[in-house]
Amino acid sequence: MGASAAFIHRFEPAATPGLPPLLLLHGTGGDENDLLPLGRTVLPGAALLSPRGQVLEAGMPRFFRRLAEGVFDEADLTRRTHELADFIAAAREQYGLPAPLALGFSNGANIAAALLLLRPEALSGAVLLRAMAPFAEPPAAALAGKPVLLVSGSLDPIVPEESVGRLAATLEKAGAAVTHRGLPTGHGLSQADIGVVREWLSGVRAAAA
Ligand code: MLT
Repeated sequence: MGASAAFIHRFEPAATPGLPPLLLLHGTGGDENDLLPLGRTVLPGAALLSPRGQVLEAGMPRFFRRLAEGVFDEADLTRRTHELADFIAAAREQYGLPAPLALGFSNGANIAAALLLLRPEALSGAVLLRAMAPFAEPPAAALAGKPVLLVSGSLDPIVPEESVGRLAATLEKAGAAVTHRGLPTGHGLSQADIGVVREWLSGVRAAAA
């Protein structure tokens, strides 16, 4: 077992060569199985790496601690972000992968945003579904053209519009190529998310070809 065993995870090897691997990051109460169907749907044939968050909140797995809904323990977030980045590096070596593209939902999207800001080398880009700004004072990061898709819901009771707007501005300022799409939906994922993600991924792949 390599160092990547530090996180319970699922790995599905690529069935189609040349696709970016997806790092699947679940929401609160999810686990390593949750987003496998979404990953298979948005990028069929890609390798899938899907860790389980190591924090438990009332028995529900998460990627970092929070003090209240939407109020993050930033010291814990920082520590867990580095642990996740180290897991990604170990898993890349073990499975022979290039830097993955994160596909995160809710709590998973929030730690993906923290990864972009603290350990940009860990990801080739990210899809952040219902993300919010992970840090009150975001660190300066160099994201030099990394593609990032933010998909927010205008009826989302958990993610304030101001927070997702602030995250988009932070990532843009760091040089990321940010696309922000708002959907007339709540915090849960909808069929429309799948369409938006698929379309964005095909644009990113065409630009990289
Ligand atoms: C978080 O704690 O990361 C956000 O409030 C989203 C959630 O997981 O509910």
